[in-house]
Amino acid sequence: MQKFDAVIIGAGAAGLFCAGIAGQLGQKVLLIDHAAKVAEKIRISGGGRSNFTNRDAGPANFLSDNPHFCRSALARYTPQDFIALVQRHRIPFHEKHKGQLFCDHSSEDLIAMLLRECEQGRVQRWQPCEVQAVRHGVRGFELDTSGGPVQAPRLVVATGGLSIPKIGATDFGHRLARQFGHRLVEPRPALVPLTFTSEAFAPYAALAGLSLEVRIAAGAGKARTEFLEDLLFTHRGLSGPAVLQISSFWRPGQPLQLDLAPQLDLAAHLRAAKAGSRKQLGNELHGLLPARLLDTWLAAVPQLATRPIAEVKDKDLDGLAQRLHRWELLPAGTEGYRKAEVTAGGVDTRELGSQDMQSRHVPGLYFIGEVVDVTGWLGGYNFQWAWASAAACARALAASQSAPREAAPQA
Ligand code: FDA
Repeated sequence: MQKFDAVIIGAGAAGLFCAGIAGQLGQKVLLIDHAAKVAEKIRISGGGRSNFTNRDAGPANFLSDNPHFCRSALARYTPQDFIALVQRHRIPFHEKHKGQLFCDHSSEDLIAMLLRECEQGRVQRWQPCEVQAVRHGVRGFELDTSGGPVQAPRLVVATGGLSIPKIGATDFGHRLARQFGHRLVEPRPALVPLTFTSEAFAPYAALAGLSLEVRIAAGAGKARTEFLEDLLFTHRGLSGPAVLQISSFWRPGQPLQLDLAPQLDLAAHLRAAKAGSRKQLGNELHGLLPARLLDTWLAAVPQLATRPIAEVKDKDLDGLAQRLHRWELLPAGTEGYRKAEVTAGGVDTRELGSQDMQSRHVPGLYFIGEVVDVTGWLGGYNFQWAWASAAACARALAASQSAPREAAPQA
């Protein structure tokens, strides 16, 4: 039986980061992953360049059934802390859009950095290694693994969410949480393209490939959420950052509201144009909107499109503007975990300590990263949660009593 101060299951963003810090703080750490390669999600993230944080990340950029939970960890390990680490490792990066930071070369730079941090902390890494059983008793945690049995007073679960099963995502963390009496907030795919019935989407199929900035909203009243982002029309439905953002808030049965010209007051523009123009309505609008969008939009009102704008009634102009500014569309569903960037929901944070990520039911058991019910917007926020929750946990591991050094693992 090999003994460690802490065993971390999952060598993704949160697990690698937690292991490196805890190791450097003097903990004897074993990091286990069932995949042959570490950090596959970091590797494919941000189109291979990893949007590794967001300069402006704060609690308002996260969803959770317990919205204040993430505050403490995010405040104690900030985007600036992670940026300083990336700079110390001399990894070149750039800001793309709205505070989103990407590696200049490749996400491999980031993975290499996390592995170097683990080496400095003398972290032992076992992979591919299956965890077959986890027991908790007077001696702490005992794990049966394909690399042999291990024992540690503390166990960290960093096995991530359910998205992209083909690169190693499993529900291990959720099952382990249940085994130890934790509740789950129902997991669901988030940051995911939405689908539409072919019937509902038929009038817009001709727009495939078109991208434009829109205001997109879901929900009503206090639960209404909106984003100003780019939308992409595809053959099957809608995608792009606007849809990915809103998908995390959308619930089945809810319509989406889209303003396809958020920077324009179209009704005011049309009424003003009416005063001095002899042009047809369709011609008056050219240049104001992308041509394909305009054609599709006017195809629904052929009798108005060719009429001189001066002859079109104000109420018809207003109606036309409304159809562009308040387009409602009912998604049929999402493209599921196969395409989702993250999993919303997960281990209920009301049963975890916000300072250390420790279970309120089982002392010494911790959950970090995406397995927890804290989900970031699109734009580097999910990695920032992985770093911040990992750092909070690592400090707590180091602050608690260590296993005796003579219990070092045998070769
Ligand atoms: P992560 O998924 O990173 O790691 C979990 C680890 O646990 C994996 O190594 C896995 O193999 C292992 N594991 C799972 N089950 C196991 C088991 N039973 N036994 C042992 N090991 C097990 N976020 C962001 O901020 N910026 C971005 O640019 C992107 N881009 C992006 C693109 C794509 C395509 C996806 C799918 C996701 C993103 N994300 C993102 C989200 C981001 O990748 C994600 O939130 C973090 O990787 C979560 O970190 P974790 O460490 O919690 O899980």
